[in-house]
Amino acid sequence: MKVLITGGAGLVGSVAAEYLAARKGSRVTVLDNLCRSRLFGCSRRSVEFNWEYLRRFPNVRRIQADIRDRDALRLALRGGVDAVIHAAGQPGVPSSIRMPEEDFSLNASGTLSLLEAVRKHSPRAGFILCSTNKVYGENAGSLPLRRLARKYVYADGRKGIAESMPVDNTGHTPYGVSKLCADLYAQEYGRIYGIKTAVFRMSCIYGARQFGFEEQGWVAWFTAAALLGREITIYGDGRQVRDLLYVSDLARAFDNCLRKGKTCMRGEVYNIGGGRENSFSLLQVLLKLETLSGKRIKRRFAPWRRSDQKIYISDTSKAARMLEWKPRVGVDEGLDRLFRWTRENIGLFR
Ligand SMILES: NC(=O)c1ccc[n+]([C@@H]2O[C@H](COP(=O)([O-])OP(=O)(O)OC[C@H]3O[C@@H](n4cnc5c(N)ncnc54)[C@H](O)[C@@H]3O)[C@@H](O)[C@H]2O)c1
Repeated sequence: MKVLITGGAGLVGSVAAEYLAARKGSRVTVLDNLCRSRLFGCSRRSVEFNWEYLRRFPNVRRIQADIRDRDALRLALRGGVDAVIHAAGQPGVPSSIRMPEEDFSLNASGTLSLLEAVRKHSPRAGFILCSTNKVYGENAGSLPLRRLARKYVYADGRKGIAESMPVDNTGHTPYGVSKLCADLYAQEYGRIYGIKTAVFRMSCIYGARQFGFEEQGWVAWFTAAALLGREITIYGDGRQVRDLLYVSDLARAFDNCLRKGKTCMRGEVYNIGGGRENSFSLLQVLLKLETLSGKRIKRRFAPWRRSDQKIYISDTSKAARMLEWKPRVGVDEGLDRLFRWTRENIGLFR
């Protein structure tokens, strides 16, 4: 199988690249412009580490380029590929509020450029878009809730949010809007041009080789803080809940989807996350990290961030049914892996 992965230096892209490169006979091209640190205003290197890491795989080709560069896309797709996983993007909410035009350009316009390149140069490829739960905006967060000592729960006891949740008439943040735009384009390219597309509306993805910043990648950010004795800021009351998905489980979901092909890729949308069993609040994750480090994590509280969902849990029934997929790495094991990797590489986080 020939695969192109955009954002191939990032958490999702680099883990997907390693996962698919292990398949016999596969050839993986990763494309990335290594802009993650810059997007979050940081001069320290981050995803450059993953870029170097991928060098060890002889069947992984690396192209350092921007997804909006048509010539680079032509080169990456030359001869046609079987699959494209689109993981490049501006992944932060606060950064999207700070720079909405750049956010739109990277997430919405960049996705359209890539879809067009696929239509022109590799129309038979299966295309998976890394979308987000933020496309549901405040609709997903305005369901009746109960506030318990350490977390919020759905008052009606529901399993989570299904794909039928409306996306209109609600707050999204610029990030939610640019990702929804990309999400709709991917669906539409399935319908109008017959490209095999699938949209993964992902919840909180975490894992080893993640470079968290305060604005994005909170599990990794908290983990580094636990190890470095750094104070963290909790926006809101810390009871907000997310369903956490270990990144290798996501890579397996990509693989299942691509193997199944057309039946699962007709502009189809999937909510993908750890599901109810892997749902924890910020306060609960802090406690787990304190157990791993044996130290209390210093914290301060600040006002809620705009459109922050008090609880988001993916209902993954559709993915379970159509992709024959469910998460395998539970949160205790996943956090342990992330914690150990961060400790071994702590110099990258100082
Ligand atoms: N991590 C999560 O919890 C999560 C949740 C939902 C959705 N997503 C989406 O999944 C995707 C991947 O997330 P991630 O956690 O791996 O983020 P990441 O920042 O680790 O990876 C994204 C990569 O894309 C690259 N990139 C950004 N703009 C680019 C451009 N114009 N051209 C080429 N490369 C570019 C960055 O350098 C980075 O390496 C993003 O689109 C994000 O919106 C992530």
